Amino acid sequence: MSSAAPSISMKAVVHDRYGPPDVLRVEDVPVPSPARNQVLVEVAATSINLSDWEGLTGSPGYARIGGRRAPRRRILGSDIAGRVASVGSAVTRFRVGDEVYGDNLGLMGGFAEYAVAPESALAHKPQELTFAQASTLPQAGAIASQGTARAQRGQRVLINGAGGGSGTFAIQLAKLSGAHVTAVDNAGKLDYMRELGADEVVDYRIQDFTRLEPYNLVLDLVAHRSVFAYRRALVRGGRYYCVGGTVRTLLRIVTIGAVASLLTGRRMGLLIVKEGPAHFQPLAERCLAGDVRIHIDRTFALHEVPQALAHLGEGRALGKVVVTP
Ligand SMILES: NC(=O)c1ccc[n+]([C@@H]2O[C@H](COP(=O)([O-])OP(=O)(O)OC[C@H]3O[C@@H](n4cnc5c(N)ncnc54)[C@H](OP(=O)(O)O)[C@@H]3O)[C@@H](O)[C@H]2O)c1
Repeated sequence: MSSAAPSISMKAVVHDRYGPPDVLRVEDVPVPSPARNQVLVEVAATSINLSDWEGLTGSPGYARIGGRRAPRRRILGSDIAGRVASVGSAVTRFRVGDEVYGDNLGLMGGFAEYAVAPESALAHKPQELTFAQASTLPQAGAIASQGTARAQRGQRVLINGAGGGSGTFAIQLAKLSGAHVTAVDNAGKLDYMRELGADEVVDYRIQDFTRLEPYNLVLDLVAHRSVFAYRRALVRGGRYYCVGGTVRTLLRIVTIGAVASLLTGRRMGLLIVKEGPAHFQPLAERCLAGDVRIHIDRTFALHEVPQALAHLGEGRALGKVVVTP
């Protein structure tokens, strides 16, 4: 292992049980050491995803996989950006001092001064992006890119949960493809979604999008309706992709949805998002080209992680929230 000899302990935000943000506390913990194929990153920024909120609260149920009673990972935070502090013996693409970013969903650990991540999860950070900007891209960018990959000129595309991190990118990417975009979220986010380019906006607390007109493509970031409602929301030949939501809804989509897809000519399924640089670097290039805008709603310090998570979990965040240790 080559090393920049980071100090032996570091500040981290930890939790030992599922619950609201006040189960989190700042603790001094050992700096992790990278295994053969891992990189130790001195974290400069970590963006928050809904998956962090789910890991904190243990809900929906899939957030407890590998840790039914107590969290599997004490330190949350997966979308990291920072400098390489040391590398494992088998690492070939990075050296101490390199600026990197990536989605560390498997190991988490970003709400800390240092985090270890597999080499395969990381990419070199473009110089033109700040650490905070780069940290917004990996998970939300991969979801948005894969979720809108089939959007085409002239089609009607609906994005449910469009005012959050992934939705911010998904609206812009769907518009760039030439589609007509309807964005659904709470009333406080409607103007924001219009500014991002949405042609129509819907307040989910007032209107049920499955009772509007049918769409060619629906990307659902927060699914909780019945398969029949989603079928109703699609034109014949249309596709519904669910990325996150209640376990009950996800199970129904993979079972009843699969059968309904065969019978009705409308495809419904889960989008299992592929991770890694190949899936977020193209979006970074579009940001550098000026085609896609990165919107950081607020930045918080490490000891403010509970407030940062509450800001997202209580539905106040427009786009991305970033923690800078
Ligand atoms: N499939 C995979 O492989 C994979 C991988 C990683 C992550 N994920 C999932 O992908 C999703 C990504 O979310 P994100 O990080 O973009 O989340 P986010 O930033 O929290 O955005 C979600 C948005 O949905 C809104 N919302 C909540 N309930 C709603 C409803 N009933 N109808 C419409 N909108 C609603 C939220 O607004 P409010 O403020 O009103 O709550 C928020 O603006 C998560 O569900 C995560 O678990 C999936």
